[in-house]
Amino acid sequence: MSIKFNQNTQTFYLEGKNISYVFRINEVGFAEHLYFGKTIGEDEISYLRCFGGRSCVPTVPGKDGFFYSHYAPEISFFGTGDYREPTVCVTNDLGDRLCELLYESYEIVPEKPAIKGMPSLKGGETLVLHLLDKITGFGADLYYTVYDDCPVIARRIVYKNNSKKTIRLDRAYSFALSIPKSDFVCLTLEGAWGCERHIQKAPMHKGVVSIDSKRTSSSAVLNPFMALLSPDATEESGEAIGVNLVYSSSFVLKAEGSPDGKTLLLGGINDFDFSWELGAGEEFATPEAVIAYSDNGIGQMSRAFHDAYRKYLINPNFVNKERPIVINNWEGTYFDFDNDKLKSIAKAVEGTGIDTFVLDDGWFGKRNDDSSGLGDWVVNTRKLEGGLKTIIDYVHSLGMKFGLWFEPEMVNEDSDLFRAHPDYAIGVPNRARCYTRHQYMLDLTRQEVRDYIVEAINKVLKENEIDYVKWDYNRNVTESFSLGLSASSQKEFAHRYVLGVYDICERIVGANPHIFFEGCSSGGARFDPAMLYYFPQIWTSDDSDAEERTKIQYGTSMVYPLSTMSCHVSIVPNHQTHRVTDVKTRADIAHLGATGYELDTSDFGDEQRLETKAQVEEFRAMQNLVLSGDLYRIENPFESNFFGFMVVSKDKTRADLTLYRRLTGANNRIKLVFPKGLDETKKYYIPEMDKTLCGSTIMNAGLVPEFELGDFKTVKYHFIEK
Ligand code: DGJ
Repeated sequence: MSIKFNQNTQTFYLEGKNISYVFRINEVGFAEHLYFGKTIGEDEISYLRCFGGRSCVPTVPGKDGFFYSHYAPEISFFGTGDYREPTVCVTNDLGDRLCELLYESYEIVPEKPAIKGMPSLKGGETLVLHLLDKITGFGADLYYTVYDDCPVIARRIVYKNNSKKTIRLDRAYSFALSIPKSDFVCLTLEGAWGCERHIQKAPMHKGVVSIDSKRTSSSAVLNPFMALLSPDATEESGEAIGVNLVYSSSFVLKAEGSPDGKTLLLGGINDFDFSWELGAGEEFATPEAVIAYSDNGIGQMSRAFHDAYRKYLINPNFVNKERPIVINNWEGTYFDFDNDKLKSIAKAVEGTGIDTFVLDDGWFGKRNDDSSGLGDWVVNTRKLEGGLKTIIDYVHSLGMKFGLWFEPEMVNEDSDLFRAHPDYAIGVPNRARCYTRHQYMLDLTRQEVRDYIVEAINKVLKENEIDYVKWDYNRNVTESFSLGLSASSQKEFAHRYVLGVYDICERIVGANPHIFFEGCSSGGARFDPAMLYYFPQIWTSDDSDAEERTKIQYGTSMVYPLSTMSCHVSIVPNHQTHRVTDVKTRADIAHLGATGYELDTSDFGDEQRLETKAQVEEFRAMQNLVLSGDLYRIENPFESNFFGFMVVSKDKTRADLTLYRRLTGANNRIKLVFPKGLDETKKYYIPEMDKTLCGSTIMNAGLVPEFELGDFKTVKYHFIEK
């Protein structure tokens, strides 16, 4: 890892693991991109400027013969002859929208500066490039962080008003990356409730390919992730450049194919319904964008994200620690429970290795269905006699830990909180609010609302012995408006809301460092790196049907490590799809994440208990691979009848392969499977075959899995170095 500046050529060379990032300050003082990709030497490479387009184009203001539209920008801006997407748009006090951000100075900082009020990666070495519009005093500090152990570069921008007048930011993206090609396939993760993060691919074209969220949440619809793949890219070959925003509110990511054959990749906070008044001397920090580079296919890009997040984002106190294996009562009881019912669910799994009982929605306020109670974080003693203590003591007496569900950002109309403070709910005066699941959202842009939430939840957490929290979020903002903001500041709402979310996370998660927090959002609708900073794992989807989960987990693994995906074994017929799959299949698929159980176990017999015990033992045996191993995707359920994940320990001494076949045939043709990621020169014992084979044989000659007849079957292989 190194960051160097060559004074003679005015070129910055940033080097991370297997990657180089090079740009220079050109003749007009503009930060001009030269290269991002596989490691190269510190050569003078301004010949790569690749001028394109020979038509009549505007010159750089006042400089005949120089053209912004010809340069590959580190930051693009409007009104000075470059018609590509601007990274930043401003309105100056005159009402003009011009800015010309030119080089002033740089700093190299060994300690990565945190972003005030927002999560970001830690570690690495950081370059800060100071740019300035000399006319208005508007400035931009571009941050670049590289790592010696991950092929990623973290980028963000801090915009600064160094003038004496107010400047309005109409767009404030986090980064721009110029790429001298445009024949990419654009991979994004789309979805909805129950089918989060499905793979979507579309060829790039001239013009803008764009994904966004306008929901004040990262959302299930489009994840804040985009990858540009060379047209021939596979899991192991070809180029893949992926970008993921460390952000949980409305975002945008764009790839613009320009007429000269280049691509400009950029994005950050969605500028739809956004503007921000920047008073004299004020700054605006944008969220971080993590950009991964791979010249060895999509798999290597994913592993780059996984390593970066496990090392530099997720809480180090939990990331590699043994995970709780929960029994969650939600699908077992929904709202219909009392102490006896909960006790019987917990008691039934005693001795199986399941170590945490999680009490889901319905324990508080007057909540017997989803129409009331949110906001009232006081136990419902009519339902739970003796308060939480009774069930907590019981669970602890079984030697298990206790977990509790909250939905901190919400309120029901039918709640004491709403009756006392109707103004705490987001809404516009004299207009009816939209309901979603009968609930409203609390206005987290307001300090007093955040204080209420923090106090109420921390009280429950302090007064009870709670080891685990599931933090849910079941709707998105509709009326983007706050009584706490002036009329001219209302377009700050979506960003201020999420700053409020991060603030309450800091004050609740931070105040309870012994508690393991799991994120959740109506399934997996807020699965993003910023949430992973607070919550080491996130409920992946309410759809726990094994078949559907193969796609959801495959898509999620594009960016997010297996350790972050909370995956439960639930009852059949599955509540969401009514499909019946074997419990072995359900467990094998759930073991490819932070595993747990979610069903009514109270009628478990000895056989089910033994089966569960064996499953838990199996998960514990492979847990380290799931938490810290390298993931290789072997079969793609979006493209075939099969799904396959292989996890390999970093030292390549152990690996597990899980294969799944969707539908059987009466006369199944031979299916060869090619494991990946082993050491070619090592020998591995495969207990399922009672055979020792060379890594090279296993990976090149392949294996022939024998699936049981029937649909939705799994086969597993273990590889142990001999
Ligand atoms: C949505 C979550 O995804 C479920 O797991 C469950 O916690 C419900 N909310 C409870 O309301």
